[in-house]
Amino acid sequence: MSLADKYPQEVKKIMAKYPAEQKRSAVMPLLYLAQREQGFISKPALEDIAQMLEVSSTEVAEIVGFYTLFHDKKGGKYRMQVCTDLPCALRGADKFLEDLCGNLGIRVGETTADGMVTIESVTCLAGCDRAPMFQIQSAGGLEYHENMTVDKTMELIETLRKTSKEVKE
Ligand code: FES
Repeated sequence: MSLADKYPQEVKKIMAKYPAEQKRSAVMPLLYLAQREQGFISKPALEDIAQMLEVSSTEVAEIVGFYTLFHDKKGGKYRMQVCTDLPCALRGADKFLEDLCGNLGIRVGETTADGMVTIESVTCLAGCDRAPMFQIQSAGGLEYHENMTVDKTMELIETLRKTSKEVKE
């Protein structure tokens, strides 16, 4: 089912914000809409958006690839995006990421077996002097965590796991 069939009112509202000759500018809100349900942008959704905006699917895929908050693959319920840019690396971000992955038994880009956490490495998140730091992207939005240790992060993950379990029950 196309995005326009699924969310006719929302798509109409988004498209109405842009003049017909600049409709390609609607790409960001349409991608956001496409990602909202499953946490990633599927290939059919990407092609659908390209068709709607009369651009190539490669152009849309490039935008998805450029922004850390858009994803082309299914991930965990929580995407933990650790900044490993140089200023953060100087404050131990690489070691933090390595140890965190070791504790979770996954590699960067992978998701824990329970489908809860995906670990990603990203560039500057504007918290350079408070590394190790990361943001967590979930259906609830974005949350920042700064001056973190692996122990504190594991505790946080346990809390997220417990909360998710309680919500399900
Ligand atoms: S370099 Fe990591 S937040 Fe800026």
